[in-house]
Amino acid sequence: MAADFTAWVSTHQSLFEEVLKRLLPQAEVMPQRLHSAMRYSVLDGGKRVRPLLAYAAGELAGATAERVEIAAAAVELIHAYSLVHDDMPCMDDDVLRRGKPTCHVEYDEATALLVGDALQSLSFQLLSEHQLNDDATKQLQMVKLLAVASGSRGMAGGQAIDLASVGKQLSLPELEQMHIHKTGALIRAAILLGAYCGNKLSDAQLERLDHFGKLIGLAFQVVDDVLDCEADTATLGKTAGKDADNDKPTYVSLLGLAGAKEMAQRLHHEALETLGEFGEAALRLRELADFIVLRKF
Ligand code: IPE
Ligand code: IPE
Ligand code: MG
Ligand code: MG
Ligand code: MG
Repeated sequence: MAADFTAWVSTHQSLFEEVLKRLLPQAEVMPQRLHSAMRYSVLDGGKRVRPLLAYAAGELAGATAERVEIAAAAVELIHAYSLVHDDMPCMDDDVLRRGKPTCHVEYDEATALLVGDALQSLSFQLLSEHQLNDDATKQLQMVKLLAVASGSRGMAGGQAIDLASVGKQLSLPELEQMHIHKTGALIRAAILLGAYCGNKLSDAQLERLDHFGKLIGLAFQVVDDVLDCEADTATLGKTAGKDADNDKPTYVSLLGLAGAKEMAQRLHHEALETLGEFGEAALRLRELADFIVLRKF
């Protein structure tokens, strides 16, 4: 990774941590236990890939950091909620997340359920109470975009397919649909919301960007499947080998490790191609695509 990119990532991760600290309710405010659990689940951990994609897309679209960070936070809060619920005993039943005990282990199941509910509401509160585009109609489109990406036709729907697929052998197109929904939808939304905070891109360019998001979002989950099988628990900060334990269909179970890696490479290549016309202006997005596919955690 270029030194310049590494510096850009850590600067934005630190800035974003402060944004989240500011936007989340303080732990001293009533109901303290819920607020404390929300902060526990969101702060101090995670790669912040979705916010980084939003920042990069925002830069490309000429958006101000003040606007992009709100859009990035809205997406990251939905993501954090999805992880809290994903780890619960009724779903993947995981005890470790981001190197810490999962929310329901550190607190309790009812609190974890409410953390997800409250993070989701806070996300939409942010999108509606901050001005993110000069055009109110565009901003309303942004709210709808995140609602669709997180709902039954997006992340939550993908999670439903995931749970219904335990112990089953899915076809490649079925698996792709599951991944595009459960993980791809939010990654795609992060990129578009970042871009919608600015006004520099044409509709055709936004479409290209969306296509990039679709490819890299799918690649992200293919790599997640590979890492679950190949990396260790300490590096991942979550229990390795869980997919096989839970009998989940994944790219690795369907194509084997080598096949899944090849698939990630192919998606990576296609994603980079999609960014071609943006030239140097899309450098950060290109570097993020590299990171998503080459990462080891
Ligand atoms: C993990 O996402 C869950 C998936 C959608 C694959 P990340 O790998 O982005 O998790 P954090 O945010 O870095 O912890
Ligand atoms: C989770 O997929 C996707 C969402 C949380 C929406 P996984 O179940 O594979 O994520 P990890 O591996 O637990 O992070
Ligand atoms: Mg899961
Ligand atoms: Mg899981
Ligand atoms: Mg996984």
